[in-house]
Amino acid sequence: MPAVPPQHAEGPYRIALVCLGNICRSPMAHVVLEGRLADAGLAERVEVASSGTGGWHVGNPMDPRAAATLTAAGFDASRHRARQYDATWPEAYDLVLVMDEANLADVGGRTDRVGMFRDFDPVDPGGAVPDPYYGGDDGFEEVLAMVERTSDEIVTALGAALENRTSDGADGGRA
Ligand code: 4NP
Repeated sequence: MPAVPPQHAEGPYRIALVCLGNICRSPMAHVVLEGRLADAGLAERVEVASSGTGGWHVGNPMDPRAAATLTAAGFDASRHRARQYDATWPEAYDLVLVMDEANLADVGGRTDRVGMFRDFDPVDPGGAVPDPYYGGDDGFEEVLAMVERTSDEIVTALGAALENRTSDGADGGRA
């Protein structure tokens, strides 16, 4: 499992999830990761955001198929509104995770803080989260399964990073 990069500002650890439209993959990952962080007691210590490299859907809710898949699995998909990625995000976030190679090219490629979401996939790491937008409902189920197992691994990595931060005394006394 890769380590998450160290936090570079005060306040919560900030993670951004990025896809093309910000109505299917990155919103699903956003809702699932937030749920898993809450389950782990880390909701106050990690902030999650998501965006799309394209601006077509800005302000819109999730794709209804993505929302239905999440709702059936017990998640709240209702609060999402699409945002557009811009060049300020890598500076504003501690970790930017994109869904596929095209997204990675659009954000300018890998850096210490920019990588692929599925770098953290414990089953089959390093690939893309395939775009389900033009396919059938089973594509959304596949995305959910990838996003759930990968979010669990990200939470484990964050837990380790935040634990180190606490034991270093590098947290400004907030722990
Ligand atoms: P997403 O899926 O990147 O997972 O949100 C897409 C949503 C919309 C479009 C493409 C992909 N689109 O072309 O509008």
